[in-house]
Amino acid sequence: MDKYVINGGRRLSGEVTISGAKNAAVAILPAAILAEAPCVIENLPNISDVSVLLEVLSIMGAKIRTINKSSIEIDPTRITNPYVPYELAKKMRASYYFLGALLAKHKQAAVPMPGGCDLGVRPIDQHLKGFRSLGAEDSIDDGFIHVKANELMGTQIYFDTVSVGATINVMLAAVKAKGLTIIENAAKEPHVVDLANFLNSIGADVFGAGTDVIKIHGVDSLGGATYSIIPDQIESGTYMVATAATGGDVVIKNVIPKHLEVLTFKLEKIGADIEVFDESLRVRSQGNITKTSIKTMPHPGFPTDMQPQMTALLTLAEGTSMITDNVWDNRFKYVDELRRMGADISVDGKVAVVEGKGSLKGAPVKATDLRAGAALVIAGLAAQGVTEIEDIYHIERGYEDIVVKLRSLGADIKKIHVPEEAIKKAL
Ligand code: EPU
Repeated sequence: MDKYVINGGRRLSGEVTISGAKNAAVAILPAAILAEAPCVIENLPNISDVSVLLEVLSIMGAKIRTINKSSIEIDPTRITNPYVPYELAKKMRASYYFLGALLAKHKQAAVPMPGGCDLGVRPIDQHLKGFRSLGAEDSIDDGFIHVKANELMGTQIYFDTVSVGATINVMLAAVKAKGLTIIENAAKEPHVVDLANFLNSIGADVFGAGTDVIKIHGVDSLGGATYSIIPDQIESGTYMVATAATGGDVVIKNVIPKHLEVLTFKLEKIGADIEVFDESLRVRSQGNITKTSIKTMPHPGFPTDMQPQMTALLTLAEGTSMITDNVWDNRFKYVDELRRMGADISVDGKVAVVEGKGSLKGAPVKATDLRAGAALVIAGLAAQGVTEIEDIYHIERGYEDIVVKLRSLGADIKKIHVPEEAIKKAL
């Protein structure tokens, strides 16, 4: 078992470069099977979710060539085995994007029910509603979702709820459908736009991504392309919050400031000083954070994926803050871990009330999911004393080189390996 050991209480300072966006990468890699020529994907984050998808693509028969740490070439032209193994699919949610992509490519797909972070009930009814509207049938057998269609026909689809996953999956399925597909009440997240841009770069005709109406004119064939993934909005936000929490001064490079506007506004309001440049941000803080209220919403609202990190920050503010998660019904599991560090937080359904105490104390804690893990790293960096974080595999699903990046900013953090025998002996 690996864990992070953080000796907290050090200000972060210096420069950090943000990697490619996880949630764009996990959509673009399955989308690459639609190409009919090799694709070069650049600014690909080196994280475990990406490694899992590359393994799935290889098992399917795609040829993957590593160009450098953040660029690969995928040749999907010889895919012979359009099958997503359970052992890999269970590791991540985004494996279900192969449903839309395989449906478009082979008119059928079987993908295991997806894994991923446990954030409450995660239905896929809107994905299936979209596939059915396009003319596909679905069933669930032996834990696999099966979809198939004789022909996919463009249609108008109105989502009952705003869903990133359903928007992406239906976009993938519709790219080669006959005629025009109109998705209404679509998600507007930056990674939805990035996927649309990738699809258009290989010859698709997707219009309106980034608004709540996306129009897709089906095309008969698609080529290949070289495409660079956008910077990770949530990784950027996590370093912004970590800087604010440690009273630091950090220049965060390779960001799209527009994607971070709502967070920038919030952090400025509670005491951080933020300078915005074309592709970077400088965050400065004296550590004097004030209380606030946060309500997460789909983009362009406050991102739910920054909610745990902000909660960690607000435990360091003086006064009472209220955090409402309007996207997920159970995204406060990590609160028990922050309590071990001295935080005073009560949770009632989708609302957490944080009684800020101005400080935290280091403690042994466990990452319960990806962003919860990021929140514990932030808490550990700001706390007095030593914090040991277990189950860091959650964190490494989505943060490239987090230890290296934080150490370069002056943090005292290391990853250590604890042999299984030592754990058994201690029990
Ligand atoms: N929903 C339905 N029916 C559906 C789909 C979703 O009711 O068919 C509901 C969900 O239960 C949830 C809400 O709609 O309450 C939003 O879910 P969405 O489908 O938008 O989430 P997702 O696609 O499963 C992606 C990100 C999450 C992020 C959410 C919300 C990826 C791979 N995952 O999940 O990211 O929290 O959008 O922005 O893109 C993370 O990166 O840590 C992460 C969890």
